[in-house]
Amino acid sequence: MALLGHLDQIFRKIDENASHFVENLAEAVAIESISAWPHKRSELTRMVRWTAEKLRKLGAQVELKDLGEQTLPDGTRIPYPPILLGTLVVDPDYTTVLVYGHLDVQPARLEDGWDSPPFVLTEKNGALYGRGSSDDKGPVLGWIHAIQTYQSLGVPVPVNLKFVFEAMEESGSEGLRGALESEKEGFLKDADYVCVTDSRWLGPSRPCLTYGLRGVSYYHVEIECSVKDLHSGVYGGTVHEAMTDLVYLLNALVTKDGKILIPHIYDQVAPLSPEEADIYKAIHFDVDVYKRDVGCKELIYEEKEDILMHRWRFPSLSIHGIEGAFSEPGQKTVIPRKVVGKFSIRTVPNQRPESVEKHVTDYITRKYEEYGSPNKIRIHSTHATSWTENPYHPHYEAAARATKSVYGVEPDLTREGGTVPVTLMLQEVTNKNVLILPIGASDDAAHAQNEKINRRNYIEGTKLLAAYLHEMGKL
Ligand code: BES
Ligand code: MN
Ligand code: MN
Repeated sequence: MALLGHLDQIFRKIDENASHFVENLAEAVAIESISAWPHKRSELTRMVRWTAEKLRKLGAQVELKDLGEQTLPDGTRIPYPPILLGTLVVDPDYTTVLVYGHLDVQPARLEDGWDSPPFVLTEKNGALYGRGSSDDKGPVLGWIHAIQTYQSLGVPVPVNLKFVFEAMEESGSEGLRGALESEKEGFLKDADYVCVTDSRWLGPSRPCLTYGLRGVSYYHVEIECSVKDLHSGVYGGTVHEAMTDLVYLLNALVTKDGKILIPHIYDQVAPLSPEEADIYKAIHFDVDVYKRDVGCKELIYEEKEDILMHRWRFPSLSIHGIEGAFSEPGQKTVIPRKVVGKFSIRTVPNQRPESVEKHVTDYITRKYEEYGSPNKIRIHSTHATSWTENPYHPHYEAAARATKSVYGVEPDLTREGGTVPVTLMLQEVTNKNVLILPIGASDDAAHAQNEKINRRNYIEGTKLLAAYLHEMGKL
């Protein structure tokens, strides 16, 4: 038998252990670590501890750092789950790579329209279905399994590692910035490169490297009209209704074609240079595949470049829901006492969260004054800033070589429209090059019903991380 190189041995071992890696993912998916639901706080901590145990088994030093308390929009205070800080030193002279992933997931209920129970990993047609399989438990496990494979073969891991795994990402990573800043001269000091595995490919089958993300400013607009819910037959016609007010305001935010109606909101958006416009031409992106994935007849834009730019480098406003609104089947004739409208703006370079917030608050306040309702209004907002990185950097070149060794193609350089708050925090606190290395595919349905990760993405993704560590060892 020909002598295999280290990487070939590792790839082969990963294939051999694939079913064991899937079992581990099933265990992780079974933990209902939903950060948006206060009553699931203990599941978040359970998920952090479960992961800590895995890292300890790799020989890492693990610290669970307390983040204090979260204040919910209604003023209630509950504890944050701890963040996990792990350190695996192989050789003090090696390069240190800091990796980030998140352990919390979006809410999911079978009744939302899942074909299988969201917290039971279910394999069908080459895909592993379950909440968090792609966003972001699968990629987190990819790191653990890649390192475990090196160790099981007695091949030295070629870099030192720092792990930052948090469990509040899906709720805005509140509390994280302070914790990271306090570790600037401690835990974070030795990091030479930062790698975030919390993104997806641009299409269903071609790998990419991500060098930009939009930010997000999230708003809660609360309107209260009475001390209790009211019978619309008894009181209707005499009360200024909170829901009516809110619908009026929400309708004033954006046009059907996605134009944001808030004055000055586009003022700080970076102008498009001819060089930047050129970048979009080379990217592999099939508009028809995208349309089919969305499942709509018509998009706002038809051209590849327009679609990508409006996902990546222009802001957008989405209306998400109304807390307190009647949303069950059947007819209920209630006047809700209090409603909270929720919307967000995806922000882009060079929009600053403070000025976005000011423009939004000024506009809503002025609109509401003009409208003339006597009801109480309260606006609450949270912010995560956009991020971009220089992709023409040895770090990205190493990741491109790793991609090529697994998938046989050059990865596209892409940006994304979603937000990972920690990316900018880590860039600012460490001053090091930050890479987002996607594992899952564009049609994984993160946040939606039937979230999945393809078995291929999960297993080849584990190889990708192993190959990335191998390439980073050469830097
Ligand atoms: N992994 C996503 C962000 C993402 C989506 C990156 C698509 C790349 C492609 C992340 O878990 C996420 O959902 N973030 C939230 C952040 C928010 C709660 C601050 C988001 O974008 O809505
Ligand atoms: Mn994520
Ligand atoms: Mn997410």
